[in-house]
Amino acid sequence: MTKQMKRTIIITGGAGFIGSHVVRLFVNKYPDYRIINLDKLTYAGNLANLKDIEDKPNYKFVRMDICDFDGVLKLMQDEHVDGIIHLAAESHVDRSIKDPFTFAQTNVMGTLSLLQAAKIAWDGNWEGKRFYHISTDEVYGALEMTDPEGVEPPFTTKASSGKHHLAYGTTFFTEDLKYQPHSPYSAAKASSDHFVRAFHDTYGMPTVVTNCSNNYGPYQFPEKLIPLFINNIRHRKPLPVYGKGENVRDWLYVEDHARAIDLIFHEGKVGDTYNIGGFNEWKNIDIIKVLISTVDRLLGRPEGADMDLITYVTDRAGHDLRYAIDSSKLQRELGWEPSLQFEEGIEKTVRWYLDNQEWMDNVTSGDYQKYYDDMYKGR
Ligand code: NAD
Ligand code: TYD
Repeated sequence: MTKQMKRTIIITGGAGFIGSHVVRLFVNKYPDYRIINLDKLTYAGNLANLKDIEDKPNYKFVRMDICDFDGVLKLMQDEHVDGIIHLAAESHVDRSIKDPFTFAQTNVMGTLSLLQAAKIAWDGNWEGKRFYHISTDEVYGALEMTDPEGVEPPFTTKASSGKHHLAYGTTFFTEDLKYQPHSPYSAAKASSDHFVRAFHDTYGMPTVVTNCSNNYGPYQFPEKLIPLFINNIRHRKPLPVYGKGENVRDWLYVEDHARAIDLIFHEGKVGDTYNIGGFNEWKNIDIIKVLISTVDRLLGRPEGADMDLITYVTDRAGHDLRYAIDSSKLQRELGWEPSLQFEEGIEKTVRWYLDNQEWMDNVTSGDYQKYYDDMYKGR
């Protein structure tokens, strides 16, 4: 799909963590596009994430539930929308374990509602249209940790792109892998991915799907590992490490994800899937130690002074052992690569949270505190 001079794009979930970075990138980079941020503003949606661009003439916010089929259809027709970048979702695994219905409602029915609205609004005229669905690597399930030739992981291995990187196993998530979701969150995301592909295969809708690894960076809601722990270290609160802290995640700086989304929205092949990841595997416990020493250093505390905050708690039910993305296809076909080294990204991220205490105080007041206390009660 070539870049059009003028487009009108709905970005769903634009007030959330990743969505706000995508909205900012598109509003600033494409002054000729109209960007409509469609967001219900759940606990995870926060318009303060977009303060710097809210007055731009090419930006509009609409508070709406993606499950509101009539509302979405009317908006698409009234605004002559020709692209959808769909990020709105319930996104936290621990919440999905407590309340799976909300995840099925938003992630499955909400995605279907958007697809059906787009199908009717576009009425088979697919020229210049695009439905881009943002998904997660968690749909593939969990990978093994293997130890070739007795080498202590992480060991150096080679991706299918031919590049060497550190890994905790010899298998990776590739686009052709079978879906094996384990949590209600990943099961709901997997289902939504299938619906998107079904709309391509059945009706010819120009869709594209991407599955990305764990993101980190500014504006992430502090129920997720990195912002939660930065805030707890700052306030010298316990750090609840699930199980032994041995689980491995593949971390990508959020702005690198947003850049990939821009590229794939414009140049990704219709009907295709791309995995996005950083070739950057870390055990939770090792990241936690990096976070502690970075916060301590930046706050002028003796380095490592807060290591005793580490508190091992009952493991998450069905906790996936290892995620690791092979993003070689995206590198090979569209030339995307992560721009930031993890050490650099973590430093930037910690600084951002320490410098933006007001943002943190706003999102951690009220209902959040009750949720947090309930979540960790008895763990
Ligand atoms: P988030 O929880 O920070 O934000 C979700 C946003 O969606 C919020 O603004 C919320 O208000 C909005 N929303 C929720 N339900 C809605 C509804 N019914 N109607 C309209 N808006 C609604 O999530 P995130 O971490 O930014 O993730 C965004 C997307 O990226 C999700 O689809 C997620 O599955 C996917 N993803 C996330 C990660 C990650 O590490 N965070 C990794 C890969 C993929
Ligand atoms: P999280 O940020 O919730 O992302 P995901 O579950 O989607 O990977 O968690 C990242 C890892 O950190 C995961 O292995 C669970 C672990 N974790 C903890 O050990 N303690 C915590 O309080 C949280 C929120 C996560």
